[in-house]
Amino acid sequence: MSEVRFLLDDAVVELRDVDPTGTLLDLLRYRLRRIGTKEGCAEGDCGACTVLVGTLDDQDQVHWRAVNACILFLPMLDGKALLTVESLGKPGALHPAQRAMVDHHGSQCGFCTPGFVMSLYGRSIGACGTKGKSVGDVLAGNLCRCTGYGSILAAAEAIPAGERDDHATVVALTGLRRTETLSGRYADPLSGSIRHWHRPLSTDDLAELLTAHPDARLIAGATDVGLWVTKQHRVLETMIFVGDVADLATMNETDDGLRMGAGLRYVDAAEPLGRLHPDLGELVRRIGGPQVRNAGTIGGNIANGSPIGDTPPALIALGATLTLRCGDERRTLPLEDYFIAYGHQDRQPGEFVESLFVPRPTSTTRIAITKLSKRFDSDISAVLGAFAIDLDGDTVRSARLAFGGMAATPKRATNAEQALVGQPWSEATFEAAAMALHDDFKPLTDVRGSSGYRLTVAANLLRRMWLAGTGETVSVLELADV
Ligand SMILES: Cc1cc2nc3c(=O)[nH]c(=O)nc-3n(C[C@H](O)[C@H](O)[C@H](O)COP(=O)(O)OP(=O)(O)OC[C@H]3O[C@@H](n4cnc5c(N)ncnc54)[C@H](O)[C@@H]3O)c2cc1C
Ligand code: FES
Ligand code: FES
Repeated sequence: MSEVRFLLDDAVVELRDVDPTGTLLDLLRYRLRRIGTKEGCAEGDCGACTVLVGTLDDQDQVHWRAVNACILFLPMLDGKALLTVESLGKPGALHPAQRAMVDHHGSQCGFCTPGFVMSLYGRSIGACGTKGKSVGDVLAGNLCRCTGYGSILAAAEAIPAGERDDHATVVALTGLRRTETLSGRYADPLSGSIRHWHRPLSTDDLAELLTAHPDARLIAGATDVGLWVTKQHRVLETMIFVGDVADLATMNETDDGLRMGAGLRYVDAAEPLGRLHPDLGELVRRIGGPQVRNAGTIGGNIANGSPIGDTPPALIALGATLTLRCGDERRTLPLEDYFIAYGHQDRQPGEFVESLFVPRPTSTTRIAITKLSKRFDSDISAVLGAFAIDLDGDTVRSARLAFGGMAATPKRATNAEQALVGQPWSEATFEAAAMALHDDFKPLTDVRGSSGYRLTVAANLLRRMWLAGTGETVSVLELADV
């Protein structure tokens, strides 16, 4: 039986007989008694359980990521370093991130405070995804129900930010270097009587493993799958963890476009996607909070097949293609063809999503991608509209309009597209396309919006694209009665 081993401060923690879907939060609170890390929601939403996970790279540097311990399965930690709120400061002295929260009255009941401190600590050492980011962006995954954010933001502004060594990170780096054997011991699966956890290190190994276990559940960042366990109490039997498959997380940016491995995390994909078009970068900024973006992957978002997943409509509008692999066989298809029906995607047993190619938009293509949700940060879309319209002078040469939240799958609006193609770039053309959306969609009513709301705002998103071209900025809700 293999065990999970990771570094906690300067000590190696070895866990035997691990339940592969046991969470780090439960381990910290119930076995290690590190009760500073709190459970607020157990679904990645509130940030009360924020910890930092560090990985040693080929250049002997540790990359730190703030993640939610409540949806982090224990074997995902194998070979890595962990810092919790108890790791900060020195005996008898608060860390500057803690000191600032005290000095600026950033804590009332204190339940959320360790999570905020860990996010701010991450910012203070230049952890992944924090460089050049506003404190609002860094704290978007932390919720407080009682202090009020003014004093927390004031505390945050008082903490020096940037890439720098800190006592806890120096200890971890020394520890990771000393304990080389921590990582790379992936040969044996974790095998219990019911659950089995495999962790390949290359796509070739992944392909082989999945061929041998075609019904295995792939786990990437576990920001979807984690909730199946913590909220739905689903029992996963055979799992293959793809988060340590280095060549699944690569990307290649060329003049033609961007190829992204399915294992690329949002935090690493945001900038290159933003270079393809700023709306794409902005969209990624609004997926979950930083802790979710530090763990979640583009491949997971696509493979999950949710009708309200954010990346599929945007990537469909841009003409992305998906490459699936089974053993040594690969096939590539337009991304929209992958989504067949609700909960049903074009993926055969033994196949996995390997990569995605997004063509670079041409200079004649106008693009608009907008996510509508009740909250700006850390919220799921009610409707997402993504439009790529190619012009020949003032005439629409081609149009790709894709929506999330309007049907059982992410879907193109083919009637509205037809209303645009061959027509002049004009208000009347956009009005005709907006009306054609009624033939494309019969959206459902749910907690995020009524059917009528969805149809109205979808049409307004199109109208707004026209107005934006005339230099007018207008709220989607102002355009017509919603
Ligand atoms: C608090 C919170 C906020 C969120 N906010 C948003 C949001 O704003 N917008 C949004 O779109 N989503 C959101 N999500 C959902 C989630 O973060 C995304 O869907 C994410 O992209 C999933 O990626 P993952 O790597 O965590 O996938 P996992 O949870 O590991 O896996 C998801 C699914 O994909 C499969 N899978 C993973 N990788 C592969 C692969 N390479 N090949 C085949 N199958 C694979 C898994 O088997 C599983 O079925 C949120 C989640 C949380 C917890
Ligand atoms: S407990 Fe709320 S994010 Fe983990
Ligand atoms: S201080 Fe009470 S929830 Fe934030």
